[in-house]
Amino acid sequence: MSRTGKITVVGAGFYGSTTAQRLAEYDIFDEVVLTDIVDGKPEGLALDMSQSRPVEGFETKVNGQTTGPDGEGYEAIAGSGIVIITAGLPRKPGMSRMDLIGVNAKIVRNVTEQVVKHAPEAVLIVVSNPLDEMTALAAKVSGFPSHRVMGQAGMLDTARFTNFVAERLGVPVHSVRTLTLGSHGDTMVPVPSACTVDGKPLADLLSADEIEQLVERTRNGGGEIVALLKTGSAYYAPSAAAARMARAVAEDSGAVMPVCTWVDGEYGIAGVYLGVEAEIGATGVRRVVERDLTDSELAGLRAAAEAVRAKQADVASL
Ligand code: NAI
Ligand code: 2OP
Repeated sequence: MSRTGKITVVGAGFYGSTTAQRLAEYDIFDEVVLTDIVDGKPEGLALDMSQSRPVEGFETKVNGQTTGPDGEGYEAIAGSGIVIITAGLPRKPGMSRMDLIGVNAKIVRNVTEQVVKHAPEAVLIVVSNPLDEMTALAAKVSGFPSHRVMGQAGMLDTARFTNFVAERLGVPVHSVRTLTLGSHGDTMVPVPSACTVDGKPLADLLSADEIEQLVERTRNGGGEIVALLKTGSAYYAPSAAAARMARAVAEDSGAVMPVCTWVDGEYGIAGVYLGVEAEIGATGVRRVVERDLTDSELAGLRAAAEAVRAKQADVASL
């Protein structure tokens, strides 16, 4: 098997460490670098992951690096082709993702400045919350071309929707196709018209009320887990989603997936980072893929764009 390239995950919390593990187990990279500001945490986790190599049978090297407030240690990320930013606080029960905006904006700004200095050619994948705003902030601070900065949300929200539909109908997840667009928050737009089970429209299998219940559960999918965990938020499905996006970049696969990206006229929306489907390759987002939406889905997407546009303008000053 040929391995190539270096990928960095910034933030060695639950999301970052599980993402690093998934990336290492793909066994397609030369090196996965994991960083954090907590002294010894990334080194310890990386050592632990490295010791799983003989058992899991992968050769990718995993290296950890503690970083300091003025960028000490960031030399370790030099040459990374992809950087995933997971640094930031997660929600507590009762909090919305938007409650994290002030504190996480400072973290994402600081991290992005260091990434620009040490890995100026990287494709950035942002996951810190609130996702749409942190993606816009990373894009602004980095000055990277918009196609090289994207956020992870749609892959996760879509996976949750798919899982709920499969469980409700008692069918394998692989026979279900669903889609969510819009924001990773209150204005998430699940798209029932794009949902199928073994190629049949979901609307032929479930009533409108039943679909609405699944849509609502998807919208609250993150909050449901936060309420159960009581401390911290989800990370198994989120890390699977971010790792798949990174893999599509690393393999230049052209996979079409829902991501938070710069929208420039598609769906009659322009000038905002928003969740839409896009073709992903080595340069990041190759192009946004538009599909037919119902009038109400399109209205939902446009409302989501306006909601995140206002917040994305505010975040630039944080
Ligand atoms: P966590 O609390 O387990 O880990 C966060 C880590 O970030 C900590 O280890 C902390 O030391 C580190 N950190 C803080 N400031 C840093 C800095 N300046 N540089 C490097 N590392 C720094 O939280 P978890 O569960 O890993 O979540 C991380 C973020 O991802 C949160 O903002 C959470 O809301 C978000 N998230 C986003 C999802 C999405 O779909 N986009 C899904 C799940 C979580
Ligand atoms: C999630 O959706 C909290 O954004 C995080 O699980």
